[in-house]
Amino acid sequence: MKIRNIDIDFSSAKLHWTPDDPEFAQFWNGASTFLPYLEPFLNRTVRAGMDLLPEDATYLREECRIFIAQEGRHYKNHEKFNTFVRASGYPELARREAKMKADYERFWTTKGHKYCMGYAEGFETLGPIIACFFLEGSRELQKPNVDDPTADLWRWHLAEEYEHRHVANYLFHAVYKSYWYRLWGICYSAPHMLGYMIGTGLYMVREDWKNGRIKDPWRSRVRFASMIVRLFAYIIPRVIKSIHPKYDPINLPPPERCMEVLEQSEERWGKPKPLAA
Ligand SMILES: [Fe+2]
Ligand SMILES: [Fe+2]
Repeated sequence: MKIRNIDIDFSSAKLHWTPDDPEFAQFWNGASTFLPYLEPFLNRTVRAGMDLLPEDATYLREECRIFIAQEGRHYKNHEKFNTFVRASGYPELARREAKMKADYERFWTTKGHKYCMGYAEGFETLGPIIACFFLEGSRELQKPNVDDPTADLWRWHLAEEYEHRHVANYLFHAVYKSYWYRLWGICYSAPHMLGYMIGTGLYMVREDWKNGRIKDPWRSRVRFASMIVRLFAYIIPRVIKSIHPKYDPINLPPPERCMEVLEQSEERWGKPKPLAA
């Protein structure tokens, strides 16, 4: 695990960055819009969890520090990209985002740290599964006409989600040691997050039918439905495996080309770290 100082330039970004499959791009564009609320919430939760670790948990504490730095760079880049998405239309995004922002604020202020840690662990259980789906299971991304900074954003982000896949899980078990609560965390985080992603993706695609950015709504419906079916067919068996009492995310096999993606991201979008004062 390492911190990569990635800063992507979206000036050449296109909204439909998978030109043959605009629904795929809009699904991930929609997903991008809630990450600047989710990832600071994860960082807040992990930071508070670090304070509950025993004194000698030096190695896990260092991994938590890298986790926080990686998530911080993820949402900074998503924030930049989201400015471009909002400038492209989609007036209902503001209401959708405000709801997620309020939800994370409410979880933090009223639900207690264990609940927030359960959410973080649940999300981070789905993270590497979704990373593998994106990096090796998405046929939309394999097409030769996909070359856009947004594809790079997601490849880098999700490869790092794989890289730090064990951190929230180890922290959760170090602090709360509860198998059943971990499963409960998956039960409330997964529908909350996937509900937003699918609902927002669908909203954006519907707007494109209205504004003519997507020409044939019937074909578009089929492509959207096929993507969601493949996503769930990929996720469900892997989530079932992850509820095994001996599940250890460190043992998950890496998605194809994971290290290559990370190296290329740094070569293409890495910035030198600012000099310390
Ligand atoms: Fe992230
Ligand atoms: Fe993560």
